[in-house]
Amino acid sequence: MKIKDNIATEFDEFSKDYTNDMIRCVPYYAELISSFTEYLPSKFNPKTILDLGCGNGNVTNSVLKKFPQSQYILLDASQEMLNLCQKRFKNPSIEYIASYFQDYEFKKNAYDFIIAGFSMHHCGSEEKKNIFKKIYRALKPGGIFSCSDLMINRNNSYHPALIERWKTFVLSNYKDHSKWEWLMEHYNEFDKPDGFKDQLIWLKEVGFKRFNNIAIDTYWMHFQAFKD
Ligand SMILES: C[S@@+](CC[C@H](N)C(=O)[O-])C[C@H]1O[C@@H](n2cnc3c(N)ncnc32)[C@H](O)[C@@H]1O
Repeated sequence: MKIKDNIATEFDEFSKDYTNDMIRCVPYYAELISSFTEYLPSKFNPKTILDLGCGNGNVTNSVLKKFPQSQYILLDASQEMLNLCQKRFKNPSIEYIASYFQDYEFKKNAYDFIIAGFSMHHCGSEEKKNIFKKIYRALKPGGIFSCSDLMINRNNSYHPALIERWKTFVLSNYKDHSKWEWLMEHYNEFDKPDGFKDQLIWLKEVGFKRFNNIAIDTYWMHFQAFKD
């Protein structure tokens, strides 16, 4: 597999065997997906849900099972990924939007739950700060922003060890090295992870005050940010 020119075309290609690739390339993928529904306050019952970077709908699917009556907006830069979602979900209360996050006009006080599974790491630090601001404004009071991702800065002294552990995981699933080589090319071209501590500062700067963070394995993390 060769990497493509931009995120949208990269994920158009990645969409072909996406779930299989994610399970075998991303440690704790299943746990990080189920985190979106496992740690919610018991009375939380969102009416409107925005999925940022829905991909083929694995996060959406898990949330949809818990909140089948909610209205969903699925946003992704990749049209192929959105096509997979449209085939997968027959629910009429789902709206599909092909857009980059940075081009999307987030409505004010419009969503109860904004979810982002493995999509924020495609945004650089400044872009994250900008999107966090838009997310805070777009949430209704009482709303939750929930995110699962790899959260480590490349300058972190543990980063080389993380890459080694990641490699061991991927090679346990793919005996030849070509998938790992592609993954690292993808990682170096398209992935811009930031540490949780930095993201927490940026989330506080835009107005979030309460958080819940669940480290599945130190840097593979899930967090919730509450808009009171
Ligand atoms: C690794 S996939 C994650 C998909 C799904 N949420 C999951 O957890 O499996 C990242 C998705 O985010 C989308 N994406 C990445 N950066 C984006 C951006 N800046 N704007 C819109 N979509 C983006 C990609 O097209 C891709 O479908």
